[in-house]
This record gives sequence, C-alpha cells and structure tokens, in this order.
Amino acid sequence: MSNNSSTPNPSGDDNERDHQSDTRADTGLRQGLTNYGDQGFSLFLRKAFIKGSGYTDAALERPVIGIADTGSAFNPCHGNMPQLVEAVKRGILLAGGLPMPFPTISIHESFAAPTSMVLRNLMSIDTEEMIRAQPMDAVVLIGGCDKTVPAQLMGAASAGVPAIQLVTGAMLTGSHRGERVGACTDCRRYWGKFRAGEIDAHETAQVNDQLVASVGTCSVMGTASTMACLTEAMGMSLPGAATPPAVTADRIRIAELTGTRAVAMARERLTIDQVLTPAAFENAMRVLLAIGGSTNGIVHLAAIAGRMGLDIDMQALDRMGRETPVLLDLKPSGQHYMEDFHKAGGMATLLRELRPLLRLDALTVTGRTLGEELDAAGAGFAQDVVRPIADPIYPQGGIAVLGGNLAPGGAIIKQSAADAALMEHEGRAVVFENAQDLVARIDSDDLDVNADDVLVLKNIGPKGAPGMPEAGYIPIPRKLARAGVKDMVRISDGRMSGTAFGTVVLHVTPEAAVGGPLALVRTGDRIRLSVSRRELSLLVADDELERRRAADPVREPSAPRGYLKLFLQTVTQADRGVDFDFLRAPQTRGKTPGAPR
Ligand code: FES
Repeated sequence: MSNNSSTPNPSGDDNERDHQSDTRADTGLRQGLTNYGDQGFSLFLRKAFIKGSGYTDAALERPVIGIADTGSAFNPCHGNMPQLVEAVKRGILLAGGLPMPFPTISIHESFAAPTSMVLRNLMSIDTEEMIRAQPMDAVVLIGGCDKTVPAQLMGAASAGVPAIQLVTGAMLTGSHRGERVGACTDCRRYWGKFRAGEIDAHETAQVNDQLVASVGTCSVMGTASTMACLTEAMGMSLPGAATPPAVTADRIRIAELTGTRAVAMARERLTIDQVLTPAAFENAMRVLLAIGGSTNGIVHLAAIAGRMGLDIDMQALDRMGRETPVLLDLKPSGQHYMEDFHKAGGMATLLRELRPLLRLDALTVTGRTLGEELDAAGAGFAQDVVRPIADPIYPQGGIAVLGGNLAPGGAIIKQSAADAALMEHEGRAVVFENAQDLVARIDSDDLDVNADDVLVLKNIGPKGAPGMPEAGYIPIPRKLARAGVKDMVRISDGRMSGTAFGTVVLHVTPEAAVGGPLALVRTGDRIRLSVSRRELSLLVADDELERRRAADPVREPSAPRGYLKLFLQTVTQADRGVDFDFLRAPQTRGKTPGAPR
C-alpha cells in the first residue's frame, strides 16, 4: 500500500494493521494490485468489492488459495466438480487459508469441435493468465478430461506459483448383458461390432446406456487416466490422488487433503519449478511406459516440459522403454479398469514395483521426496492388477519410438496394444489424403484394399487437420471388417485415443501439411514397419521422392482471423508438444534425462 498520508482508510478499525502489513509482504489480497495509479486506492477498492460478498477482515488476512473450477454442463467427466470444490474449500479453511474458486475454460473430448486439442493451448493460456491476474498464494487445479490436466499444468508451470493438481477421478463401469463395460475401449469395441454387422442397432442403443455409468473420466487407461498417473508420478498431486473413482468418498477425502496441503505449500513457497524438475519428468516417462499409457501422454509431457525449458528426449524414452516392462493390467493393454487399480492400492502399488527404475530424490508437492513417500506407503498386499516386475504383462514399455525416412523427426507406436504378428510388416500403401477422403472412401465396396496392406492417412497433424485429432485410429475398411479382419498396420501424423488399440503408427513428424515425407506417399508404394529395428521406411527411391516433391509444392494451412490463425501460425510439431512456440519457456535448459540403469 502507498505510504501517502492522504490515502483513505482501507477498511475501518484494523486499518493501521493493514496499512503496515501492506508494506511488508506481497502476499494474500495485497499482491498483484490492479493498476489505478495509486496502490493504496487499489487495495482499498479491492477490499470494498470483496466485502460485498460478506467477507470480514479476518478472512481477508488469510493466505489466498485459488481453486481452478472447470465444471461445465458440457463436461460430464467433471460432473463431480461442485463436490470437489466444496471439499477443497473445506481443506483450505481447516488449514487457515481463504479459498477462492474461479472458473476457467473446460474441455470435453466429445463436445469440442473440431477437436479438443485445438483448445488445449487456449485453456492453458486462460489458466496461466487467471493465476497471474488474480491474487493467490497457491492454486489448486481441478481437471480430469484428457486435455484439461495438461492445460492446467502447462498454465501453472508458466505462472510459477505453488500449484497442486486434483483430478476428478474415473467413472464407474457399467454392465451390458452380463458383461462389464466402460468408456471408451468398449465404446470402440461395440462400435466395431456394429460396423461388422455382429450386433444390431437395438443392442447398440442398449450398450450406449451402459458405457458411461457415472460422472468421471474414462474408466480405462486412456489419456485422462494416463495423465492422472503421470501427475502423481511427477509429484504434482498428493500420493494416492490418481485413482479414487469420481463418486467415492476416497475422492472427496483427497480433495479435502489437497486443499489443506495447498495452504502449507503457500506458506512454504513451494513453487512449481521445485517439483517439475528433470527427475520428475523422468519418473513420468517411466510410469507412462509401465502403465501402457496413452500415446497422448508423450505430447502432453513434451508441452509441460517445454514450459519449464526442457525437451523430452525421445531417444531416452525409447531406451527406457526397452528396460521398463508394462506392469499394469488395465484396458486397452490388459483387462481391468481404473476402479480395480484403485482397489489394488493405486499408484503406490505400481511405484513400489518400479522403485529400482525411479528417481527417488524427486521432490513432490508434499515437501517430501518420492522415495520418502514410498517409504511412508509401507508394504503392499496381494492383488492381480499390478504385476510384479519379474512377471510383467509385457516385457518392454508400452510405447516404442520409430525413425526412418518416413518419419525423420520420429513417430511412435503403442506396441502393448498392437498385434504382435504385425510388428514386422511390409505392405502396399493405401493412401487417404485427409480425414474427409477417409470418410468418403473407407467403407466403399470399391476400395482396393487387402488385409496385408498398410493404411496411410495424411494431413491430420498439428496444422493439417488442424489440432492433430484422434483420427489416427483408422477404422478397418468395412468390407475387411465383415470378413473378420481385426487389425492392420495404420500410419498417420495424427493422434489416437488412449482407449484405442491396434497396430497404429502415430505422430509421424514432420507432418504432411508442412512437407514431411508422409506427404509424398502414394497408393501402391511399399512401406516397411520394423518395431524391433524401430524403423518406418518408405521403399521409394530418393530421386522419385524429389520428383514428387517438386511437382507438388507445400501449401501450409492458414486461417483469415481469430484463434485459429494464431494456432496455425505458431503451433509446434508433436515432438515439441503441439504447444504454441511463444508459450515455451524462453530459455531451453536441455533435455530430460533417461540414461539406462
Ligand atoms: Fe473425458 Fe474420456 S471423454 S476422460
């Protein structure tokens, strides 16, 4: 506050105390004052307005804890947001803080057009700027659906304040004719049955009622569950916070504890840069591999790391993949659901097995290291969801990083969800120029395609579609599906839902829309996939490729105005997280580690 003696009393009888403390500390409501050219007046006005909500001076003296509320009628994955906000507020009040919920953008996978990924960076900007603009000593981020947690972590990383993540938690599973079902691996499975003529429209409508049995995020190891697990592995949420289902008492208790811990973090000034270190990202990469996590997790980790000035080392990820087995028996790689993982002890059970491969010195939001938290978690118990490291569900990590002349900047395959018989495969390319071309021809009886062909979809990368939609899971052509074909090699520059499965090569970089070699592939070309050699090759002579390139120069997509114009002008490729180039930290601090152990 100004020392100007003409400044009016800001708030009655405790004015003098306020007046003194305002000059001592840049905390609570006194920080980040609105600029009216008179700091004292700014605080006076701020207090006058907040008192309109009935607050006392005693309440306003407390540490201010922001709560990023992403509830929305369009987002059933966040349908428990009111209860979570209440529980977080309770925890904050119990610890002596002042809870201040505030709204930001909310994004649901099925309600965002053309694709949620286009909006993730906008949500990260919203989160960052609302944290910066409003006075708070720490922030609780509440998200859940796929893009929301990455967006919140990206925004909070850039804002730099003490931050703690709370996820909304997974939905419950439903039951269809005696079979347990859950979104969205089973959504795809039943839709595949419908396409193949195995079930009729009536049964399809019946199962539609059962796939999402409650509010909460998808019940398998999709992107939301993956990010919940990576967030806990990175130390950005409380131990045990990843797995409680959305509608359980455990989830509400974690919310209360998260609020309580946020107040302590504010007092300790435990800022996010102390938690999001290279060691934290290394632990996240290990866990991503060990849970058979969504390939989207790599893109989001790269974006969050970029906000901290770090690059995710894709070659290190691949090396780690060769020595990190898949331990978690969850769909789509395995058989269980998230509620089973929670009953099996959640992340502590997994991290206990992975312990020899983890950076135990990484600090967490608790103020203790990951190793200290694992010690505190104690011994495990008999369960069948997390395998012992000596008896994995899959001997290598769920994700392999590919190179070769078709993907000079890299590509990935989720090998744990792929058909083992197709991991070494050479076939004839059947090319679709873009998503519209795919829709127009994939189900045509005239499509010239065989089961051992390689389906190629171009122009669904970060700029191509735009927003790198989850269209990389190219459907099996209907005539082959009816003949019983379940899997084929499929290649694109897009992404795939974490709930999907199949021999699907994704994130081909550079993408076709910016002139990557994928743009040059033509139907009839031969393509070789060798996961053992980490190779994705287009078997066409270099001079022929140059001839094609000269005949069809690149025309990068553009937009006349608005957010899409900003997106297309500044979005980066998959290996840099599909973030906007100007949102990355200005200084690069190097690559995340990941040396063999
Ligand atoms: Fe929200 Fe799957 S649609 S988590």
